[in-house]
Amino acid sequence: MSNSTNSNRVLIVYFSQLGNSKFIAETIAHEIKADTLEIKPKKSLPKATFFKLFTGGMQVIFKSKPELLPFDKNPMDYDTVILGTPVWAGSYASPFNTFFSQVEIKGKKIALYCCCGDSKGKTFENMKNVLKDNQFIGELELKSPLNSKEESIKKTIEWIKTILP
Ligand SMILES: Cc1cc2nc3c(=O)[nH]c(=O)nc-3n(C[C@H](O)[C@H](O)[C@H](O)COP(=O)(O)O)c2cc1C
Repeated sequence: MSNSTNSNRVLIVYFSQLGNSKFIAETIAHEIKADTLEIKPKKSLPKATFFKLFTGGMQVIFKSKPELLPFDKNPMDYDTVILGTPVWAGSYASPFNTFFSQVEIKGKKIALYCCCGDSKGKTFENMKNVLKDNQFIGELELKSPLNSKEESIKKTIEWIKTILP
């Protein structure tokens, strides 16, 4: 097990609608003893699948900033920031629009992961465009990790060792 020491403080910032991105955040946090910050919108998406996909998709397309519950950690207090998101409409989930508008992230080492049903689309590309002035150290795409937990844990731990040896 590696360790997130004072010389390399690691924060995992994630949003998770259905639990996949949360599962990966917890896997990483357990492996490297990192802090976590879960972004939580005040209002959840509708429960019914069609309305959920429609509402979330529209929020991405129109770059909506859903209101977030207060959070108590600041990425600027850390050396490395790992950002995890579900893929929504081929990009990162809309709560990150709000987060990026509220928090400055500059001069950090950044690693990105996403959980998708099919494909990452432009998730990493779009996140990197918003997070200019940082150093990108890794990307990980996982398909429905809750459907193959053991394999996903293995893949995640292998990845984390390459970015935080
Ligand atoms: C609003 C919405 C839009 C989605 N759009 C995509 C997509 O464009 N491509 C894809 O592969 N999966 C898409 N998915 C599936 C999720 O990315 C996938 O279920 C992911 O594992 C969910 O992560 P979570 O459990 O952390 O919320 C979408 C899911 C939702 C709710």
